[in-house]
Amino acid sequence: MRTRQANPLGPLPTSGLLGFSRCGFEADLVEELKDLGADHAGLVTDGLVQATSNRDPTTMPVFARDLLRVSGALEGLTRGDRIGPIAAHLRASAIHGDSLILLAADSESGRKLAPMLRSMGRQLANELSLPLVSQSRPGSVIVVFVDSTTALLAQTVGSVSNPWPGGIARLKMPHGAPSRSTLKLDEAFALMLTAAQRSRWLRAGMRAVDLGAAPGGWSWQLVNRGMSVTAIDNGPIKGELQGDPLLTHLRADGFRWQPPRPVDWLVCDMVAKPARVVERIALWLSNRWCARALFNLKLPMQSRYQSWLRLREQLLQQCRLPLQVQARHLYHDREEITVLAVPKRPRANSQSAAGEQVPTSEKLDRRRPKARPREPDAAPRPGRRRR
Ligand SMILES: C[S@@+](CC[C@H](N)C(=O)[O-])C[C@H]1O[C@@H](n2cnc3c(N)ncnc32)[C@H](O)[C@@H]1O
Repeated sequence: MRTRQANPLGPLPTSGLLGFSRCGFEADLVEELKDLGADHAGLVTDGLVQATSNRDPTTMPVFARDLLRVSGALEGLTRGDRIGPIAAHLRASAIHGDSLILLAADSESGRKLAPMLRSMGRQLANELSLPLVSQSRPGSVIVVFVDSTTALLAQTVGSVSNPWPGGIARLKMPHGAPSRSTLKLDEAFALMLTAAQRSRWLRAGMRAVDLGAAPGGWSWQLVNRGMSVTAIDNGPIKGELQGDPLLTHLRADGFRWQPPRPVDWLVCDMVAKPARVVERIALWLSNRWCARALFNLKLPMQSRYQSWLRLREQLLQQCRLPLQVQARHLYHDREEITVLAVPKRPRANSQSAAGEQVPTSEKLDRRRPKARPREPDAAPRPGRRRR
């Protein structure tokens, strides 16, 4: 085997797990993978981490944008001879995919490989008689280029892998949304809720509170799904959302304001000390002011994984209800992570996942004289656009 021309930072895996992270978060992912039971975990190159583990995780690690299982490595690929060796290796191995994806890390050097991936993708797909796809699924053969001469061959990890290859959430900025952080909530709903939860929990006619709402990107996502939103922020809400009948903007302190009646969703993007945010979220959930909460926590630059573990523990301790908690470092997150907390309500005769039984604000709010009429499904309101 020829040696690599470029110089990735770590040894090349030929098996085990391959994790994709935001650049600068590799150490957090390494620590988390070790904590999840990997015998060894380390850096491959910027934005790519490997772990020796025979067990597939059942959930995505917080600091992984994507997770794949490596089935082989090819080194010394040359400009005129990349397709042949990859195709030969795949044919000779036991990998029988039904679709093909070419990918590199989301790093400065990884992005420079984009023209090469574009030009060879179609040729490799033809050579293998596989469709070249942009969303990964179980059965996809994923070729991850570490550099221009080195490729890892990988496959998805059950249903854990991100449908957006490498976790790069390709979402279009919606026309009319007042800030790019609108994409963060869109991505969170796409990745952190199951399809069943999306159709049950994101329904027109539901009520939501958005703490730290300005300029309104998150509120826009909720209003766009037909929810009534109370936006709490001393700053201004911008754009078309300002006059929307579904939006009520209150200039108030998100750490003091209380809802007059329970809501279906609490979302919170206040830039504040994470322990303070967690305390507030725990209070909302304990008092059943909201059926579920989705919020951002800005983590310190050091020991982010340990910080998250402490914050998670704080949330579980301060909330008087047992919770199901999920956290992700999303593609649209920077120094923060996004957390979904849903009270568990075990059903007597059901083995269904915890958190599935949370009452909506209608059930919570016995005092409400008449429920706002709900639309039959989560379809967008006329004139509203959904992705
Ligand atoms: C990152 S921005 C929110 C962006 C928003 N999610 C969006 O999509 O447009 C953080 C916001 O939190 C607000 N904020 C910070 N502390 C707050 C508090 N105590 N009460 C209410 N809002 C607060 C700030 O005014 C700021 O508008």
